[in-house]
Amino acid sequence: MTLGKKIGFIGAGQMGEAIIRGLLHSGLFASDEIYAVDASSSRLEYLKDNLKVCNIASDGKKGYKYLVDNCDIVVFSIKPQVLKEVLGSLKDLDWDREKQFVISIVGGINTSFIEKYLMDKVPVVRVIPNTPMLVNAGASGVAGGKTASEEHTELTLKIFGALGLTFHVPENLIDSVMAISGCGPAYIYMLIEAMADGGVELGIPRNIAQTLAAQTVMGSAKMVLETGEHPGRLKDNVCSPGGSTIAGVRTLEQGKFRGTVMNAVEAGKTKMEEVAEKSK
Ligand SMILES: NC(=O)c1ccc[n+]([C@@H]2O[C@H](COP(=O)([O-])OP(=O)(O)OC[C@H]3O[C@@H](n4cnc5c(N)ncnc54)[C@H](OP(=O)(O)O)[C@@H]3O)[C@@H](O)[C@H]2O)c1
Repeated sequence: MTLGKKIGFIGAGQMGEAIIRGLLHSGLFASDEIYAVDASSSRLEYLKDNLKVCNIASDGKKGYKYLVDNCDIVVFSIKPQVLKEVLGSLKDLDWDREKQFVISIVGGINTSFIEKYLMDKVPVVRVIPNTPMLVNAGASGVAGGKTASEEHTELTLKIFGALGLTFHVPENLIDSVMAISGCGPAYIYMLIEAMADGGVELGIPRNIAQTLAAQTVMGSAKMVLETGEHPGRLKDNVCSPGGSTIAGVRTLEQGKFRGTVMNAVEAGKTKMEEVAEKSK
């Protein structure tokens, strides 16, 4: 049973596609309830051929009007650099603020910037999703703008909740959510790759080493999520005195592992703020 609503995506790149795939998989939306506008005609053809999303249009005012005229929810899934131009075309359209709202996943751009640009014609909810949504294991932060109702936030939590875990957070924390769960998958892929490389060097075939590393990351994450234990305690539990794991922990500490990861999270937020500032 679908939600009985229509959802339209402005930008159907990596994230747009990940969300569309997740929504179709969840059953909350059928393919004929999904609309997409993109600058790339090959992306649109791809959606049509692979996901049966046939309500598609090219970018530009005509395409955006097609979306706004038909959809209950309009998702901004474009890069921050093009948002201003898109908002310029959207502000003159006939929004129905009683029936419609916007979900923006655009990194670094707060709801007040979008609301102001759209002259408060439509409520805005901001979401920071991540690509593991594709396998139903996403982690998203959701924050409503000043005119978004509880109903808008709840519906957004429901939509992204079908794609993984969701957290309702104050908007002043949402860029920090991006720095952990939005950027984080890249860091974890690097960890898996590095652990697999280490295994290969020790003579384990690549496919086995990679699967062992990925399963270890997944299992360890499940331990943290399901036991609720502090990760430090779980680490202590697997470090026997004078053993091999503590020797590896020492090597990671010598390489400033935790400090480097903390710096990476901070660097992601700083970079996003710089890009967002230039896009305003
Ligand atoms: N990647 C992540 O994990 C992640 C996580 C959370 C949030 N976000 C945010 O999600 C947003 C989208 O990121 P992404 O990785 O999906 O980017 P992307 O793959 O580049 O997708 C953006 C799509 O929008 C299209 N586009 C460009 N200008 C357009 C316009 N004027 N109207 C309609 N479509 C247009 C692009 O086409 P062309 O390629 O032809 O330009 C592209 O297909 C970003 O704001 C990012 O900050 C990303």
